[in-house]
Amino acid sequence: MIDPSRALDLCREIAACTEVPGQITRTFLSPAMRDCHRLLSTRMQQLGMHVHTDPIGNLRGLYGAGNRPRLLIGSHLDTVPDAGAYDGVLGVAIALAIVEALPPQTLPFDIEVIGFSEEEGVRFRKPFFGSLAAIGRFDPQWLCLRDESGCSLREAIAQFGLDPEKIPDAAVDPRAFAFLEFHIEQGPLLDRANAPLAAVSAIAGQSRLHVVFRGRANHAGATPMNLRHDALAAAAEWITAVERTARSVDRLVATVGSLHVSPNASNVIPSEVRASLDVRHSCDATRIAAVQAICEEARRIAAHRLLDILVQEQLNQDSVSMDEELTAALERALQNIGEPPRRMPSGAGHDAMIIASKIPSAMLFIRSIDGVSHHPAEAVHAEDIEKAIRAGVAILADLAQERQHS
Ligand code: GLV
Ligand code: MN
Ligand code: MN
Repeated sequence: MIDPSRALDLCREIAACTEVPGQITRTFLSPAMRDCHRLLSTRMQQLGMHVHTDPIGNLRGLYGAGNRPRLLIGSHLDTVPDAGAYDGVLGVAIALAIVEALPPQTLPFDIEVIGFSEEEGVRFRKPFFGSLAAIGRFDPQWLCLRDESGCSLREAIAQFGLDPEKIPDAAVDPRAFAFLEFHIEQGPLLDRANAPLAAVSAIAGQSRLHVVFRGRANHAGATPMNLRHDALAAAAEWITAVERTARSVDRLVATVGSLHVSPNASNVIPSEVRASLDVRHSCDATRIAAVQAICEEARRIAAHRLLDILVQEQLNQDSVSMDEELTAALERALQNIGEPPRRMPSGAGHDAMIIASKIPSAMLFIRSIDGVSHHPAEAVHAEDIEKAIRAGVAILADLAQERQHS
């Protein structure tokens, strides 16, 4: 019998690890993340795991002596601001539930559960630090990035008690042969199909950019309209163009989700707006063409209003297919627990899309009630979690059998 309540309770307990009382907000290397690590480390140790935090802040629990092939199971522990309780964390809670449900000492491989430190890209506006370091693709130049408070990534790592010079040590063990990620769908498709679970076929590519419009501050009462260089009016014009572009291309999505307005006073014409841009599509060429068009439009608007503009690319991540063999094994696992073997693409980004460039990776999606995510109302059905844990146990048994016979 699998009881999903421990995994769900763990998500609720972790939800209390927050930087903002009354919300779930837990960003990269924050004090709330330290609390989350404390809680999860205790749980991992109770399960007999060896636990450590690697130099980029990923929490890693190893089940086994560390000298055998290694199966990685994980997801991220950071959240967006005012998040729900399941995005990311649920994948780690399910991983622990699988370890708990199986007698892993009977498996022909070790299991490493990874709680990735930074997937959302909130604090330093750049996502995936945790998984990029895990595959040895962390660029040391990123240590100079600064968060909104001016703290550099190097300083943030040191303040968390870690050594930024040791980031290469976060690289996963060369014996790792597969990575599995369990995650809520974060969209409405499974809920609409009345289906609890699906294997992920591929993850859509994403671009993230930082766009700055620079005009000139002046008096809101005394400056005639034709003499203004209003950075916020320019950004507003551009944002509606971003929406128009995305609506004009099938399945393209584009979002301006963050704005910082300076000096941000009601009686001063805005001198500067710093905006984020997030563009996604399953076809990389379509996404890249859309980003180019959107950036050209930003430049056109800035030139027309006599403003300066700066466009910086933060991420240009191609879409990624999941490993065919491992995904087929996930589908068999679904059949083993009495579910039809479904597959669907992911519109959201995941650590699996980074890890997949080095290690065969697969993902299992769990229905999100009403398709709500990145919102406090994020919710799941306990029965779906029970099925996901059972599917996890089934795929581990399948992988064990395969390795025993190879
Ligand atoms: C992660 O949640 C993403 O932005 O897709
Ligand atoms: Mn997310
Ligand atoms: Mn996520």
